[in-house]
Amino acid sequence: MSSTPRKILVTSALPYANGSIHLGHMLEYIQTDIWVRFQKLRGHQCTYVCADDAHGTAIMLKAEQQEITPEALIAAVSEEHQTDFGRFSIGFDNYYSTHSPENRELAELIYTRCKEAGHIAQRTITQAYDPEKELFLADRFIKGTCPKCKADDQYGDNCEACGATYSPADLINPRSAISGATPVNRDSTHFFFKLPDFTAMLKEWTRSGTLQDEIANKLSEWLDGGLHEWDISRDAPYFGFEIPGEPGKYFYVWLDAPIGYMASFKNLCARNAELDFDQYWQQGSDAELYHFIGKDIINFHALFWPAMLSCAGFRTPTAVHAHGFLTVNGTKMSKSRGTFIKASTYLEHLDPDYLRYYFAAKLNSRVEDLDLNLDDFVQRVNADLVGKVVNIASRSAGFITKKFDGVLAAEISEPELIGRFTTASTEIAACFEQREFGRAIKLVMRLADEANEYIHAKEPWVLAKQEGKEREVQAICSTGINLFRILMIYLKPVLPAMTERAEAFLQETLDWASLANYRCGNQIAKFKPLLTRVEQDKVTAMIEASKEVLAAESTKPAEPAPADPIADTINYDEFAKVDLRIARIVKADHVKGADKLLQLTLDIGTGQPRTVFAGIKSAYAPEQLEGKLTVMVANLAPRKMKFGLSEGMVLAAGPGGDELWILEPHAGAQPGMRVM
Ligand code: MSP
Ligand code: ZN
Repeated sequence: MSSTPRKILVTSALPYANGSIHLGHMLEYIQTDIWVRFQKLRGHQCTYVCADDAHGTAIMLKAEQQEITPEALIAAVSEEHQTDFGRFSIGFDNYYSTHSPENRELAELIYTRCKEAGHIAQRTITQAYDPEKELFLADRFIKGTCPKCKADDQYGDNCEACGATYSPADLINPRSAISGATPVNRDSTHFFFKLPDFTAMLKEWTRSGTLQDEIANKLSEWLDGGLHEWDISRDAPYFGFEIPGEPGKYFYVWLDAPIGYMASFKNLCARNAELDFDQYWQQGSDAELYHFIGKDIINFHALFWPAMLSCAGFRTPTAVHAHGFLTVNGTKMSKSRGTFIKASTYLEHLDPDYLRYYFAAKLNSRVEDLDLNLDDFVQRVNADLVGKVVNIASRSAGFITKKFDGVLAAEISEPELIGRFTTASTEIAACFEQREFGRAIKLVMRLADEANEYIHAKEPWVLAKQEGKEREVQAICSTGINLFRILMIYLKPVLPAMTERAEAFLQETLDWASLANYRCGNQIAKFKPLLTRVEQDKVTAMIEASKEVLAAESTKPAEPAPADPIADTINYDEFAKVDLRIARIVKADHVKGADKLLQLTLDIGTGQPRTVFAGIKSAYAPEQLEGKLTVMVANLAPRKMKFGLSEGMVLAAGPGGDELWILEPHAGAQPGMRVM
């Protein structure tokens, strides 16, 4: 360990102020918090700041829907977020908001410097506009019929039914998701950050050890392909900061969001004499700066952000650490399955240290998704924490308390064993430092196994019944407690709440530097359970509650519903043109190279089998379909697809993914019958 403490500033991404914290978010805050706690435990000056990301259209609309001001909304959400984070022991040194005077000042400063240096462009763009709501519409606020597969109610940039991507202008029957009105095109002046001016700077920065390899590689493709200017303005009405000198124009939320890192730190500096804003942010600063983020927001942190910082004369980040996404039981968190779990729902049922431990045990330094498998979660926490770590202390403590008035042996009886525990610190520290938490945990658990084997072999409970073996019993149990103590130092960054209870038991504040200050002749407190087992029925209850929470919430519309979801009518003649027929699926096959399609061979009673490519592979295996009756559009003009000619369409319903069902007529219907 280096003797001069490092100055380290760490951030996690700023959660949006329009929703609750869920376990996906928690992966990031727990990962960051473990790393920060490790640095602090090692004696470095490490500062961890965060904030709510309070600006943007989504927050403005949500406030409107709740009939409160955006300021009232973000205040309430901030309180909720901070309560959740506090209960998970996320130890922010400051938690602030992007809607703050410091952030306004810094955003204006950075923008002005970029502008003065000639890196801001201005031009007119044409955009979809909601004439009723009087608002420009971002792609995700436009809905309509997919131009490819004709699925209705699709978002403006991609179709959830067939996976096509397109621009909102291609949508059939586009409408505003806010008011239901038909969008019109409208011109407006926008401001752009000239990102291409920073190509050389970014090529150098992204290759200088700042990024994980897989990210650096991905970005270099873009850097070679040519960067685009970045649109940093939005028109009123917008909840954000007005651009200086440009009335009615606001900074895009993603411009001032990362600046929120600086603003939160600045706000802290005003309260903490040991921290100096300029020392951390000036060019050439010797402080380290790390951003922990999810893989979905890499561009903002590894392209726009370093370019803007360098443009405005500030230092760039030492590194950006991206993590993958959380899945639960092997799939995307799902509201219907109850695996979209809010932090607050988890906390009602389970101990936060369980989750911190499970994430730590599975985290590494790569950008990989992490699965919370709930059976594995129960098994692992119980086996490792309760079965191994706590067990060492609970087996040893009783004898020390009962037979020796809580006083540990005066000297260490197993120097070699204990020595191995302390020497492991170098490797364990390296793992924490490199964010290989899973490896660190593995090393710690291997030591825990050794400690248990030692106690098991010595059988103090047998010796305790024999005459004249008191000293031996005391020595064995004192060794056990000293081994436990070392393990708790290693686990302290991961398990803050459990460590506090261990510290009360050991009567000592645990610290990495005092690793080898073994406890000899010291008093320990009466042993109290340090952690209870995870109970499976608590997990089940949490899943059930997650289903309920969402059921209750889905009764208030997430966004104002259009007046009538089925607005455009057709007349009978138009309907009668559609020839719907009962079809029997005689054969269903996978299509080589297609990940959504199945090839169906349909009998519609004509003696001439039809081939149809249907996007239902996510919901059906071919053998589930063969022999089934369904409904097909028989007179749809044949369509040439990459994989062959599709001669019609089969009808299916459902939100997509594995929740998609083909229409099945009642038995009695025969292939070829017309559906009216
Ligand atoms: N407000 C932006 C970040 C601005 S940073 C200057 C944002 N907010 S967010 O609330 O959507 O996400 C916050 C962080 O949580 C992001 O790093 C995001 O990647 C992460 N996660 C959100 N859902 C997640 C999972 N399901 N799994 C893992 N991380 C996830 O993005
Ligand atoms: Zn589609």
